[in-house]
Amino acid sequence: MLDKIVNTAFMPVARVLQYDYVTKPMRPLGTNNTMKIARAYNYMINGRYHKHREHQYRSNFDELMNENGPPVSPVNEIKDGWALDTSRTLPHLERLLLDTGEIINEYGGVKRTDFGRPWFQEIPVDGLLDKYPSILDFATSSDVLATASKHLGLIPVLSAALPHGIRFNESWAKHDDAPPDFFRGSQLFHIDYHDSPMVYVIVLLNDITMENGPFCFMPQSTSEKVSKALNYRTRGKPHRLSDEEIYSAAPESELIKVCYPAGTVLFLDPSRCFHYGSRNAVNPRYALMYAFVSPSRRDFAELLLERKLYPVRSTDTRLRKYVLRKEYTGQDTSFQSP
Ligand SMILES: [Fe+2]
Repeated sequence: MLDKIVNTAFMPVARVLQYDYVTKPMRPLGTNNTMKIARAYNYMINGRYHKHREHQYRSNFDELMNENGPPVSPVNEIKDGWALDTSRTLPHLERLLLDTGEIINEYGGVKRTDFGRPWFQEIPVDGLLDKYPSILDFATSSDVLATASKHLGLIPVLSAALPHGIRFNESWAKHDDAPPDFFRGSQLFHIDYHDSPMVYVIVLLNDITMENGPFCFMPQSTSEKVSKALNYRTRGKPHRLSDEEIYSAAPESELIKVCYPAGTVLFLDPSRCFHYGSRNAVNPRYALMYAFVSPSRRDFAELLLERKLYPVRSTDTRLRKYVLRKEYTGQDTSFQSP
């Protein structure tokens, strides 16, 4: 109750700090400063959950994983900001590919106007999570969570605000009226500011070549070098950078293009690695993008936007409940209020 009063009072300040946060995020104080303020604020509200999750990861993670089903594959470890799994052995992955294939057949290929990014459309799947349980089963598997948790140092939660915890993306140039080689938004290099560290798990749902507008990124060490050289995220600096700016500080040869077969899974920290995607996708690119964050993220999205909550069942394992609700603390009564 007290949290709600404090949040309501702080909302106008947060709105000013984050400003028009899709196109000109965090302009008034700069991204670095705003992220620090947002973390301090969110930690004041949610620090108890943050600490609890750190403790559970340090002291109880094996037990939680065993209850959830122990990892079936060698656990991927994020190094230099990323890890790539091409084994196609992660649990629920085959079922996920079959299910998402059905979704693409039924809902893909349609121009959508409700999302504002024609080069990077979203197929809405919130209403399909019961019909296709593999979407949440994959995200909450111990194999995926072991990788994400180790990188974050705590048991994460699926993001409840932008970027949403589950996005089913269709990138296809035919939906976009812009001329080829005209890039904007997420087609330009940037580093995400929602939380840091954070983890994206990106599942390729079809075979990807340069014709499909692949996701591309710079490793963390390269990105740090570029950020330092360009004073990225300081006050007055833009959120998106041109290729010329990036390649003035690091060679293009360090860019990693995620051109791999369907079923490849990329684990990436988008808060530490420059990235872009969906350029000149003359053929469609389909990907599931999961976003894992801490309970005290570094932006004000949860404060300013309505939270998107994924379904929790009483029969779910404790680990799964942790991932679906930031308020969960191991007791079934601890996550009822959003
Ligand atoms: Fe991004």
